[in-house]
Amino acid sequence: MELSIDKILEQAEEELERIEDPDGIRKLQVKYLGRKGLVTQFLRGISNLPADKRPAAGKRANEVKKQLEAGFAAARKRLEDSQEATERLDVSLPGRGVLPGSLHPITQVTREICDIFTRMGFDVVEGPEIETDYYNFEALNIPKDHPARDMQDTFYISENIVLRTHTSPTQPRVMEKQPPPVRMVAPGKVYRCDSDLTHTPMFHQVEGLLVDEGISFGDLKGVLTAFVHQMFDPQTSLRFRPSFFPFTEPSAEVDIRCVICRGKGCRVCSQTGWLEILGSGMVHPAVFENVGYDTSKYTGFAFGMGVERIAMLKYRIDDIRKYFDNDYRFLRQF
Ligand code: PHE
Repeated sequence: MELSIDKILEQAEEELERIEDPDGIRKLQVKYLGRKGLVTQFLRGISNLPADKRPAAGKRANEVKKQLEAGFAAARKRLEDSQEATERLDVSLPGRGVLPGSLHPITQVTREICDIFTRMGFDVVEGPEIETDYYNFEALNIPKDHPARDMQDTFYISENIVLRTHTSPTQPRVMEKQPPPVRMVAPGKVYRCDSDLTHTPMFHQVEGLLVDEGISFGDLKGVLTAFVHQMFDPQTSLRFRPSFFPFTEPSAEVDIRCVICRGKGCRVCSQTGWLEILGSGMVHPAVFENVGYDTSKYTGFAFGMGVERIAMLKYRIDDIRKYFDNDYRFLRQF
């Protein structure tokens, strides 16, 4: 008896693991359990053992035999299953195809906004997201102690460098470089330390600026009304509500009739029937002075809107964070 029964089992299991076809299993079966197989021989050899060793050896050998039979059956099943899987592959089925990518809804709405203004003769410009304190605040007549400069609202990179809190710094940047007339819109990312259902630390705005001789509040109303009628519905009513921004005077916030309840009052418009969509006003003379424009000759208006806000109203999305989750099931609907 050269090999002990446990050695035989160990060796058989090792070989079984490497088996890749049914033929291999058959050969192993012959090698171990066949008429001249190792286990069979072991069983036959038991009669040569001292009488007191026979019962234990016999019992163990029978256990090993059962274990190997089960092992062979399992291996056969494993091979059959994987073969079945291969056979299930139907190469005649049409391919699934590659899903095409598409523009993010915020990009789509940004472009839609800019397109409406380009059709009215505005140019599209862009400014830096990392901005100096001067352009983000100072040039826009925002004094040093203004709450918008609070560390809580603004991401400071250093004392004089911030992540822009709005797209308005594009106003002085553009005016510094060219004499009037100016007609521009400036889309882009802005940053504020803010995060909840309706605020994300990064969001998008589109700024607008028009400067020329004889520009009045009536022009502001006309242009923004035309914008709202193209963006939403030609029947949408607007409301210009007095407001305050340091860089415009007078200032107005623009509300539109609630797109959900059409003015009856609902959860989205907090029962007021109106939805705020942008800030605007006549450019403050201090801003013109900062860029060297002649305030006795030129007037102008500016406005700034949140793209996510417009997109939420347009598509009736109630959680701004959906735009940034990158859930494909959400994005593919646009
Ligand atoms: N910059 C203002 C804001 O972010 C919006 C605004 C732009 C208001 C231009 C007036 C004129 O709230």
